[in-house]
Amino acid sequence: MKDELLRGCILSPLVPFYPDGGLLIREGRIAACGDFHAIHEPGVPVNDLRGSYLLPGFIDTHLHFPQLRVIGGLGLELLDWLDRYALPEEARMADVAHASRVARAFTHALAAHGTTTAMVFGAHFAAATAELFTAAAETGLRLVSGMVLSDRRLRPELEQHPAEAYDACTELIERFHGRGRALYAVTPRFALSNSEAMLEVCQRLVTEHEGLRVQSHLNENPREIAAVAELFSGATDYFAVYERYGLCGPRAVMAHNVHPTEGELARLARTRTSVAHCPCSNAALGSGIFPLRRHLAAGVHVALGTDVGGGTGFGMPKEALQAYLLQRVAPSGMTLDPAQLLYLSTLAGAEALGLADVTGSLTVGKAADLVCLSPPAGSPLAASLELAETAESILAALFTQAGSESVREVRVEGDVIFARDAA
Ligand code: GUN
Ligand code: ZN
Repeated sequence: MKDELLRGCILSPLVPFYPDGGLLIREGRIAACGDFHAIHEPGVPVNDLRGSYLLPGFIDTHLHFPQLRVIGGLGLELLDWLDRYALPEEARMADVAHASRVARAFTHALAAHGTTTAMVFGAHFAAATAELFTAAAETGLRLVSGMVLSDRRLRPELEQHPAEAYDACTELIERFHGRGRALYAVTPRFALSNSEAMLEVCQRLVTEHEGLRVQSHLNENPREIAAVAELFSGATDYFAVYERYGLCGPRAVMAHNVHPTEGELARLARTRTSVAHCPCSNAALGSGIFPLRRHLAAGVHVALGTDVGGGTGFGMPKEALQAYLLQRVAPSGMTLDPAQLLYLSTLAGAEALGLADVTGSLTVGKAADLVCLSPPAGSPLAASLELAETAESILAALFTQAGSESVREVRVEGDVIFARDAA
């Protein structure tokens, strides 16, 4: 593969601001990143993207593949929303042809919104989950996913027997984990829908295979938390249920954690378990306002997730903006700055997924995973950017206004996985 030099305005965590920047891609990796004139060498083809903004690809650390079609189920709280909207749609994933169509629409939507890496809840069915891995590989996305496990509380069609779940997950792990850009995540839906026997299966899978990730839900909604306390009366708190089965640690991501105790925050930090903050979902489902300040004070690592379909869409800038807006008005909130919004949407996710040496910033040596943003001519965003000269003001304009219409091109390991002209 020939070297390629992208020219545009570079904005990335861990990298200085280069208004007229050059990003040299060699064999899918970033070989140089700096001022265009300092990097430019005769003979290397230049892809002139001046007027566009080069950012690391967005990293979405929490969303659900089978929920693509239930985005917009407003007005209910978590448990009622699951029963009314999410679970009936998830049951349709038993039909592989349907799952295949949704998987393709889902991976396309991620790429079209500038997301290059995503940690995704698969389906409760192995074949449907395999369709997701296949679609992601065809799209070129970096995917961390797994079959969703449950053996109680949900609908009978979504429940598995622990021994069968073990066999199905083992097969999926052998087929997809560490292949291409895919990693497998052991995915107990939440403590409420998993018996001790199923949580033991999760633990066994994690100990039997190298490098698996773990994902689940934690402390999202008061009714859910009370039900977990009743079901696991011997556990100190919600997080203790996962800890007991080793479902924590630097490769585990817990979604939401809107209502943690101080003890849970201390143990999340000590075990280096990450939290996927999903502010659009938290507001849409009335779950509450995420205590970001308490997480950071306790030393808990926080990344961002869209939580499609409890959330409101695939856009990571929108998600980061929602985090900003809610923290701005929360009684004990904080004022996030534009560089923090960029970090939360990119590198923080890579760190949560144990992929920070591979992706999450435009650092030399990492994979060339990036999004090129270019506002439509005549748009209010284009007008704001005419005025913006500092990294801070450019990022503020992008994070308040850039939607998928501003995504011009998306790459993973230098491969174009989405291009607006070709869309
Ligand atoms: N907890 C368990 N399942 C789900 C889900 O599908 N969405 C959300 N937001 N929370 C959950
Ligand atoms: Zn979720």
